[in-house]
Amino acid sequence: MVDSAPEFRGFDDFREYALWYLHDVGMTVPEILGHELRIVHAAAPTAEIEFGDWAGRPKWRGPKDLPGGEWNSRDALAILANLGNIQGDTEFGSNELQVGLWDTAPSDYDRKVLLSVMNEEFRHGWQMAHFELEVLGSEEARVAARTLLERRAGAQGNERLLGAFNQKIFNWIGMYSFLEFMDRDGGSQLNLLQRSSVEALAQSMSFMLREEHRHLKAGEQGYERMLEGGRLPIDLLQKYVNLYAPLGYDLHGGERSTNALIYWRLGLKGFYPSSDDYLTGPASAVIDEHLFADLRLREHERAAYGYRFLDLDLDGAAQDINKELLNSITVTFYRRSLVKHFERFNRLILEHYPPGTPKLVLPSLRFHRAAPSIYAGERYDIHGSPIEGEREYEAYLEANLPGAADSERLSEVFARPDWIARTRQDVFARADMLKSGDRASWSTRFGDRRPTRYVTSLARTGGAHAAPSPPRPVATGAAPRAELPLWRFMHEAGAAGADE
Ligand SMILES: [Fe+2]
Ligand SMILES: [Fe+2]
Repeated sequence: MVDSAPEFRGFDDFREYALWYLHDVGMTVPEILGHELRIVHAAAPTAEIEFGDWAGRPKWRGPKDLPGGEWNSRDALAILANLGNIQGDTEFGSNELQVGLWDTAPSDYDRKVLLSVMNEEFRHGWQMAHFELEVLGSEEARVAARTLLERRAGAQGNERLLGAFNQKIFNWIGMYSFLEFMDRDGGSQLNLLQRSSVEALAQSMSFMLREEHRHLKAGEQGYERMLEGGRLPIDLLQKYVNLYAPLGYDLHGGERSTNALIYWRLGLKGFYPSSDDYLTGPASAVIDEHLFADLRLREHERAAYGYRFLDLDLDGAAQDINKELLNSITVTFYRRSLVKHFERFNRLILEHYPPGTPKLVLPSLRFHRAAPSIYAGERYDIHGSPIEGEREYEAYLEANLPGAADSERLSEVFARPDWIARTRQDVFARADMLKSGDRASWSTRFGDRRPTRYVTSLARTGGAHAAPSPPRPVATGAAPRAELPLWRFMHEAGAAGADE
């Protein structure tokens, strides 16, 4: 029994504490406790640093290789501890948002999707804790690893670090929206970090990406199955799109960000990797049309927008832009991959819904954005047209985002077992994604072992944290318990961005 916050020396301590965590948040079904967890490093795409101030040098293997110096008053070790903390936080946060949804799974396949995703996200959190403890090993990294298991999604005062990971998932439309939009942002971040200057981070991402691709696939497939069912009213689904797409945009950080520049200089995150060779083409082609026009406006109207929008270098080739704009390119890749999905989704609506059914709209990057986006505090509709008055805008959000008013219609939908079509393809057919050449270690299966060293609750560790109860979804189709409309509740639950 421990009565104070446990000391973390290495990954062994983390592993023990992780068993306590599983019990504390309610992840105690046999599919999770019986699952084999590992730390896996797979080959990184290159051995040299690909971009930034140290391009061409061998990748850094540990703290002693890291360059000296400070960026925004933080050294490279602190920047890395923070990066691992944010990435790991999203992995455990998504577990907490999804725990218990298995009780309302529409089919055995959906239950398998959920539990496979939860196991893999939990493993990703492990992998980040391993990076903190066994690769970085600084005091800050040790605290980061411990608090990964102590924050809780949506717990006020002890919430997860990013807005989207405090936004409770209430039903299976939310689950598949989360996979389609939030996990796809995870895919963006992992793709960037796979090219990073730190060897262990790049190798971790190489394997995590294989798993993450399955989550993205399951999200896209979930949307296709909901549309093939032909039962879910499109205006209702549109509300979930309106909620989750902007959250996904927000997770990409500010469109202009000093952190993006720092990450680029350190070789951590660069231009979004793509098979089209876009770097020598014009910047206007690789930044979303609305966003490009708005950056241009900010560049020209200096008096209105101030120093923050000088020297964007928007006229030349993509590779010459101010590196503070790198998030603008990444979020554009993200949105354009969604545009392709929406074309397919709309073809399914033509096939499975009555003639004249409205199409699904993917919201503009301008719509419903939170800090640190350049659009935070501005008012637009989903098409990106401005809405003048505050009151008019509030009414628009009320009508176009999920809320308590939808509960009756949702109950009717979920009452029909065929509201979501059966699957034709098992995305999780392979039990694991290991390939020969991967390095796996720390193999662990908890089984029915109970926590031993750590049996205390957060209420008694350190006292700073509230003891949060595990998030439980409300019964299928029911409205959120909060008195507030869902989207407002989410906003107030915490909308801090990763970036500035
Ligand atoms: Fe993940
Ligand atoms: Fe994921």
